[in-house]
Amino acid sequence: MTVQTGSESVFAGATGERWEWKEERYRDGVFSHAVGTELHRLRLLESVLDEHTRNRFRALGLRAGHRVLEVGGGGGSVARWLAGQGAEVTVTDLDTTFLDELAADGVRVLRHDVYTDDFPPASFDFIHARYVVIHLSDPEKAVERLVRWLAPGGTLVLEEPAFFPIKDSPHPGYRTALRAFRRHLETAVGTDTEWARSLPVPLEGKGLSGLGHDARFQLIAGGDDEAEWWRLTLEQTRPAVVAAGLATDEDFEAAYRELADPEFRDLSLAVFTAWGKRA
Ligand SMILES: C[S@@+](CC[C@H](N)C(=O)[O-])C[C@H]1O[C@@H](n2cnc3c(N)ncnc32)[C@H](O)[C@@H]1O
Repeated sequence: MTVQTGSESVFAGATGERWEWKEERYRDGVFSHAVGTELHRLRLLESVLDEHTRNRFRALGLRAGHRVLEVGGGGGSVARWLAGQGAEVTVTDLDTTFLDELAADGVRVLRHDVYTDDFPPASFDFIHARYVVIHLSDPEKAVERLVRWLAPGGTLVLEEPAFFPIKDSPHPGYRTALRAFRRHLETAVGTDTEWARSLPVPLEGKGLSGLGHDARFQLIAGGDDEAEWWRLTLEQTRPAVVAAGLATDEDFEAAYRELADPEFRDLSLAVFTAWGKRA
């Protein structure tokens, strides 16, 4: 497959080298932490995902004193909760603006690119990434890096979304705007919006044992946090999507009307969690 991004063409075949940045990294454009609504958008995401994440950490045996790496920590709620459990937490992001205050809670906050920056091998007992790996040009290579940073017996946990439930939504506004947004993410950032449905296969053959997996659909109801998260996500992306001719302003307005309608009910993203222990 060849992905065209403006003047650049990136080979994305199975045997090709995707280990290079596209023109725009996730945080460079519409999701920059400098965008006025980005912190609120990240908080909404946390409000719909954190409970599941905490339950997964508990089920996998998180204990006080564990060295935990939280990759692409965003708004920081997971890192803050982990520190509250007595873990020794390192949180990274390309932009640590929303994370810096966690240093006061004893969290190590690093501006660190999971794709190109390193850690010494065997540094962590847990590594967790949520809604991060799909945005990297080569998710599988990212998994290999993460496994190297695990201590023997350490656990990798990935939580990543896939878009397929939305593609076939019966709601035309929601379906049209989200399909256009998805296309923008794929071309501008290089996000593989269906990679997550292949989990846990990408964890196989990488030195992990005891692989586990769960899958669920995020539900969405008009005006709830998931709907508001999508509205902000769409609104931040709208100028680029409209400029690229992928959708019109009217398409976005139709989606916003549906997302605000108290009667609106649908599926949102499918969320896949996969984990394994380093042998
Ligand atoms: C959708 S947000 C998710 C934030 C957080 N993980 C959560 O689930 O609440 C993606 C985050 O990953 C960060 N990110 C994207 N690419 C990254 C990279 N190569 N290295 C580190 N962080 C990255 C972004 O800056 C952003 O904060």
